[in-house]
Amino acid sequence: MTTRNCLVTGAGRGIGRAIAQRLSESGNRVALTARSAGELAEAATQLPGPALDLPADLADPQAPNRVFDAVERDWGPVEVLVLNAGTATSAPLTATTDEDWERALQINLTAPFRFLRRAVPPMVERGFGRIVVIASMAAKRGDPYVSAYTASKHGVLGLVRSAAAELARTGVTVNAVCPGFVDTPMTERTIDNITAKTGRSAQQARSALEGKQPIGRLISPDEVADVVELCVRNAAINGQGITVDGGAVQS
Ligand SMILES: NC(=O)c1ccc[n+]([C@@H]2O[C@H](COP(=O)([O-])OP(=O)(O)OC[C@H]3O[C@@H](n4cnc5c(N)ncnc54)[C@H](OP(=O)(O)O)[C@@H]3O)[C@@H](O)[C@H]2O)c1
Repeated sequence: MTTRNCLVTGAGRGIGRAIAQRLSESGNRVALTARSAGELAEAATQLPGPALDLPADLADPQAPNRVFDAVERDWGPVEVLVLNAGTATSAPLTATTDEDWERALQINLTAPFRFLRRAVPPMVERGFGRIVVIASMAAKRGDPYVSAYTASKHGVLGLVRSAAAELARTGVTVNAVCPGFVDTPMTERTIDNITAKTGRSAQQARSALEGKQPIGRLISPDEVADVVELCVRNAAINGQGITVDGGAVQS
């Protein structure tokens, strides 16, 4: 198997950490980025293969250049880019502030655009690249109280589809994975919010989220990593938003 230079955003915990682990177990070099330096360093030391931890805030427009420059300096061009970092906001439409809206678009849409724009030229030059964005089932349907998050995730799926069409003859593929509720710290925070806002117990809140998946449970981070690995392996999957939600969105 060819060893690839991989970069995973939001790799300190949750889905991104599982993806970094999987890519490393498959024999790749994996660079990890997120804001929390301690969490990132800990995640990097757990990887079986070569790892680089590169703390950065995706809100910073210079973050893509700094992170890519560091990987290129140590290993050469990034060949596999997984844009996983994201932020979740929840509020009724009329209580959604400008700040909520801008934050969701900044981290879930603008930052992936900037990373993708920085990644593509060296990938095209080498005739190989794999870009996978972790979107959400919120890229495919609208649920109440998540208008900013849903708009940002619909937007990033549009970015993926357009980039895939543009790059189709270059050896670079661009795909999205669209999970339902995944068992991660982000979902733990969602459970805390439900508990705070509704007075339901944590167990009741968790059961409600489990029930959103027809399979009756949360998705595991490993199940998301499986699909990322498939997108990396398979050159014919391009421009897709692959839903991993136990069957709620049938597309
Ligand atoms: N959990 C779910 O149910 C679910 C479902 C569908 C889609 N998703 C999507 O999957 C992705 C990962 O979710 P998760 O559940 O693993 O979330 P998580 O547990 O909250 O982890 C998010 C990761 O992103 C990083 N991150 C957040 N804001 C950042 C910023 N401004 N700059 C750099 N890194 C940042 C976090 O690190 P720092 O805080 O240290 O920066 C962390 O490593 C997100 O895009 C999310 O929207 C999640």
